[in-house]
Amino acid sequence: MALGFFKKLFGTAARPCLGVDIGTTSIKIAEIIPDKAGARLGDYGMLETLGYLTRGTTAIQASGLKIFEQEVGQYLKIVKDRMHTNTVRAVASLPSFSVFSTVIDLPPMPEKEVVQAVQFKARQYIPLPITSVSLDFTRISPQRVLVFAIPNDIIAKYKLIFKVAGLELVALEAESVSLARAFGVPADTNDAPTLVIDIGARSTALSVISRGMAYLTSQTDFSGATLTHAIAAGLHVAEVRAEELKRRRGVVNVGFGAEEELSTLLLPLVDAILNEAKRLSERYVSAYGVQVKNALIAGGGANLPGITEYASKGLDMRVQKAMPFSRVQFPPQAEIALTPLGPSLAVAVGAGLRGIS
Ligand SMILES: Nc1ncnc2c1ncn2[C@@H]1O[C@H](COP(=O)(O)OP(=O)(O)OP(=O)(O)O)[C@@H](O)[C@H]1O
Ligand SMILES: [Mg+2]
Repeated sequence: MALGFFKKLFGTAARPCLGVDIGTTSIKIAEIIPDKAGARLGDYGMLETLGYLTRGTTAIQASGLKIFEQEVGQYLKIVKDRMHTNTVRAVASLPSFSVFSTVIDLPPMPEKEVVQAVQFKARQYIPLPITSVSLDFTRISPQRVLVFAIPNDIIAKYKLIFKVAGLELVALEAESVSLARAFGVPADTNDAPTLVIDIGARSTALSVISRGMAYLTSQTDFSGATLTHAIAAGLHVAEVRAEELKRRRGVVNVGFGAEEELSTLLLPLVDAILNEAKRLSERYVSAYGVQVKNALIAGGGANLPGITEYASKGLDMRVQKAMPFSRVQFPPQAEIALTPLGPSLAVAVGAGLRGIS
């Protein structure tokens, strides 16, 4: 068991870095370049496969953690080669379903004993043999840490994927940590918590973040693919057609015919995601005594028409699409292209920011 695994390999010089998010159905890369103002977005790349809709096997991140390293490495290389960049340093985010996380409270103790105490206490909470995982943690408060356990075989797979792609993997972290960094500054005095709901293809990852750190995380299998399957089954149409209907109509309920039928199929599933969000925000309130009043929706699912309005009513919070560009500048002419991509690039932007800090 190695604590803070990749930190040791991590150079301190501020050099450009690629943030890489390998999702179930897509690969996203954001190049983050340090500059006088802090950071700017260099180039970015995305590759999305819809093959999984017709053939169950072509997801990029396969279930059961069986990632096909060579193939994924080749895909990653394709995305990187299409970008106009020579940057090879990369920080990767791991999907929430391959990382186990838990909050651990520690008694007051000298700073130098914290690492050992976390290692010791983590054994009680992590449902995996402790020798088969690497631990990483972020300090939430003097006596409280959020611990992440990453299976060693996943780390080995990622190393191989990046080697095949010709990239230098300098750090790996949980995607909730990347998202928290993308939307907050650690030194920020405004500690208002924000709920982040990342609706991906295979799962929805939820976290409560504040001051650039993740405080609590959870996950549900209700996600983009669940919505598509429900439309396909409910309307007796092919998955590809169902996907197209979902993206075009979403949950904007105009109350007539097909739109109403679509909403009837989708809303119970969106409600399941929102219920998980409510549960997490209640957990946060009971742990920290502060209400969560803001939410951000990230991931491809953030583009579901009507989702922010619907979530805003359901959660009784201010809900916005997650745009990860408050810490990262980009040229004004890129705005039109980046606006719809922001929620999907958020994890990659946050990971890339780690590589320059
Ligand atoms: N315009 C849109 N409207 C609704 N859903 C969309 C839209 N665009 C993409 N999606 C959905 O977003 C999902 C993909 O999102 P994303 O790229 O964040 O997933 P991923 O990172 O590959 O998956 P995961 O995070 O679960 O591993 C798919 O289910 C897709 O149908
Ligand atoms: Mg994802």
